[in-house]
Amino acid sequence: MKNFVFSLGGSVVAPAVGVNVKFLAAFKKLLSKFVRRSRFYIIVGGGAAARQYQKAMKESGVNNTDELDWIGIAATRLNAELVRVSLGKIACPQIILDPTKLPKSKKQVFVGGGWKPGWSTDYVAAVLAKNIGAKTVVNLSNIDYICDKDPKKFADAKPFKKMRWSDLRDLVGEKWVPGFHLPFDPKACALAKKEKMSVIFLNGNNLNNLKKFIEGKSFIGTIVE
Ligand code: UTP
Repeated sequence: MKNFVFSLGGSVVAPAVGVNVKFLAAFKKLLSKFVRRSRFYIIVGGGAAARQYQKAMKESGVNNTDELDWIGIAATRLNAELVRVSLGKIACPQIILDPTKLPKSKKQVFVGGGWKPGWSTDYVAAVLAKNIGAKTVVNLSNIDYICDKDPKKFADAKPFKKMRWSDLRDLVGEKWVPGFHLPFDPKACALAKKEKMSVIFLNGNNLNNLKKFIEGKSFIGTIVE
């Protein structure tokens, strides 16, 4: 039985305030093919709701970062419920609220959201991976590769196929800002590096590519180790 830990970007599940129903249907179809021989742990991000609702609170004068983080956590948990419900009977009926205490279930797919203020769902996925002894976290976002610059803004952005943890740290920095967009949050980088994990960055919108990865075939994406 192979375990897969996914940090599934809110940018994939809910790119705007709303639901990517096409993605959810295709994701269910994909995971259903593999649940006989694999188990999936999916930590879902907050997406547009997290960002827009945090922005609204900031504009109303809230500047306590913990309070802003709780708004983000609520968005991640709502998105986790959307993924869980759309997966139907292959998924455990409760979402993961704490990655160190998984719900007891014989189901093959577990879905969860954020945990505590101060980090992102990437960190939650890394804690979960450590907890179950998985050595890889798959980060599903809306980019094909990590690049040296934002590929949506710079045509000359250079994609990385392989990176070391120190290269990624240089790119993401060390400071935590609620709702700030980074490929992988700095605390998650530090934990993954310490635990000698690798993180694979794939485009969650390209489920054919994710299928290749699950099958152990060659895929498009960045490996950080
Ligand atoms: P995300 O993990 O979704 O962060 O959490 P993100 O960088 O916006 O990633 P994507 O692209 O949507 O997947 C959204 C916000 O929720 C809070 C943080 O403020 C984060 O920016 N959060 C999330 C926490 O404080 N703790 C958690 O465990 C998870």
